[in-house]
Amino acid sequence: MKIQQNVAKGKPLLSLFNSTDESFHAKLRRSVANAYAMSTLVQFEPLVDSTIEAFVKQIDQRFADRPGDGGVANFGTWLHYYAFDVIGQLTFSKRLGFIEQGKDIDGIIATLEGLLDYFAVVSVAINTYCCSYLTITLIKVGQKPWLDRLFLKNPVLLWCNDHGLINTDSPVAAFARARMASRLEEKAQLNSSTEQSTSRLRKDFLDRFLDANKKDPVFINDRRVLALTVANIFAGADTTAITLRAVFYFLLKHPDSMEKLVHELQSADLGPQSQIVSWEQARTLPYLTAVIQESLRMHPAVGLPLERIVPSTGLTVGEIFIPPGTNVGATARAVHAKESIFGAEPEKYRPERWLTASDVERTEMNNALFSFGMGARTCIGKNISLLEMYKLVPTIFRQYEVSLSSSFQNSI
Ligand code: HEM
Repeated sequence: MKIQQNVAKGKPLLSLFNSTDESFHAKLRRSVANAYAMSTLVQFEPLVDSTIEAFVKQIDQRFADRPGDGGVANFGTWLHYYAFDVIGQLTFSKRLGFIEQGKDIDGIIATLEGLLDYFAVVSVAINTYCCSYLTITLIKVGQKPWLDRLFLKNPVLLWCNDHGLINTDSPVAAFARARMASRLEEKAQLNSSTEQSTSRLRKDFLDRFLDANKKDPVFINDRRVLALTVANIFAGADTTAITLRAVFYFLLKHPDSMEKLVHELQSADLGPQSQIVSWEQARTLPYLTAVIQESLRMHPAVGLPLERIVPSTGLTVGEIFIPPGTNVGATARAVHAKESIFGAEPEKYRPERWLTASDVERTEMNNALFSFGMGARTCIGKNISLLEMYKLVPTIFRQYEVSLSSSFQNSI
């Protein structure tokens, strides 16, 4: 059992994210790769649009239509809400409710933060019956994996959870279980021809994983479908929120770059101002692309090294031989600081570096951009997150004048 493994009904959920068995990983990835392919983005777009519509409505009602202090939003928090709700919508055709309610539903964000600390190196968190967290600092579960058997994967707790005596499921796993149960019920009630037309209309991730389950019910069994949906939320919400926050933060700190982006959006033929920018249009905008690439470079969402285990042949890096079985890793931010690849002053935010580079240089920069990882384990949700970001950013800058509030300016 891995530390970074969610639990549902007392049993750990094995996913792409936490499996270390390469052949299992490759088979699972092959089974669901289609759902994340570039070609499916068009079908996902209406689900992103409906979330952006809800987001804009709340921003209008709560802030933009209330001048003065009422117009000040903690936009980083709202981007977090967007990222959770949009992946909920894409996965289950149902938002988790962050946007409408303007709050951290069931403490999901707080729980996830607690879990990331737990998985990493800084604290132990004990998931109590009511899913609140008791944190004992300075014990390092990520560094001392056996501690996990005492806390979250404690066999007694797991047994009690499995038998319904306590509930140690994360709120995301509970939400996913409820969505899956209602989808299976819905499918059971529909006759096959109606089912076909409904799922053609919706086609969210859950539908796609259930299609994979139909093709290979032994390998993609119900628990695996559940694990895949939970992994989407855990892997895709925080990472997208962090990157969106970086996009807005850097633009706000570099008004000249923001002006260039706004100018590009005003000059392009994107339809009425209130319209959500389409994926097809957004990805042809060079400055927007440069802004997103530069934010991914400057502030990669995954701050820790992306680890791999040296294979049985060993590995020679320069003049150093690394023996088989050694954990090695590279940190995206360190890779992105390479002047020989990313050009002069790599520590500075400069979207123009992506525009002034020659085709050969830009290809090299793109190949070295490590925010989504690389190789067999590279982020399977990259296209999805680009869809979410490429649509939201221009839509916001077309509809609002965005600036830092004076209270924020004074606090930095
Ligand atoms: C800006 C947003 C995102 C960033 C920066 C990001 C980053 C990453 C990174 C660094 C990895 C590990 C790659 C490696 O070890 O080489 C990863 C894996 C993964 N990501 Fe993302 N991710 C993002 C969005 C998403 C989204 C939206 C989803 C789901 C729809 C998702 C699902 C996954 C999954 C399932 C894996 C495991 C893949 C595997 O092991 O085969 N990610 N992501």
